[in-house]
Amino acid sequence: MVEPVKIKASDEALKGLSLGFEAQSPQEVLQYALEQYFPRIILACSFGAEDVVLLDMLHRLNPQAASFYLDTDFLFPETFEVRDRIIAKYGVSSEQVIQVKSLLTPEEQANQYGAALWLRDPSQCCALRKVEPLTRILKGYSAWITGIRRDQGPTRANAGLVEWDTKFELVKFNPLATWTSEDVWAYIRTHDVPYNVLHDQNYPSIGCTHCTGPVMPGEDPRSGRWRDFEITECGLHK
Ligand code: ADX
Repeated sequence: MVEPVKIKASDEALKGLSLGFEAQSPQEVLQYALEQYFPRIILACSFGAEDVVLLDMLHRLNPQAASFYLDTDFLFPETFEVRDRIIAKYGVSSEQVIQVKSLLTPEEQANQYGAALWLRDPSQCCALRKVEPLTRILKGYSAWITGIRRDQGPTRANAGLVEWDTKFELVKFNPLATWTSEDVWAYIRTHDVPYNVLHDQNYPSIGCTHCTGPVMPGEDPRSGRWRDFEITECGLHK
């Protein structure tokens, strides 16, 4: 068990703590995170494969643990289906799985920024529909938990198991940072965790309908996201 450390912004102890977690399981990282921060800690859940694993682990450790999803108004129906299966399986309340929406409806966005902003400036669309809502919800917490993994791409290769999030100014736990996609799927199968059926239809990475497509065998799993654009991150993690 890693000794609890009082975590402060840019505290060197945070790096030491993260190094100490390298050989530990995600559950041990989550256990520590809950001990230190519950109830001021929340899981960012897109209902993708990594996030349903974390939700299952969290529920086993503390059935009161909370999560939120950024409902951009452009999520796939399959994403809502897995949300509902998760709520039914774990018996969690809607206060524990918090819906966070953009300040603008799609219609208001179209009026202010023009039609189909995602086709002209996807980063601006992500800023309005994901980053601002994320900033708003995280203000109420001291730590958040995400499903990012190091092998998802160069922008995530250096993710710590725990780190100070300089953008949103709170502690960020990435308990699956060292896991591979195979590890994630082995957990889902072993524990029979509900998952998004789009994963079975060549959608390894799932975001909004307008900016997510299937990938071909052998392609980078994140290549279906913002396929015709330079961007590879929407601003939640960079
Ligand atoms: S994204 O930033 O490009 O959308 P990705 O889909 O790989 O990220 O998800 C990485 C992590 O960001 C997820 O494991 C989750 O913690 C968080 N995340 C992404 N999208 C959402 C969302 N709509 N709601 C809540 N958390 C999200």
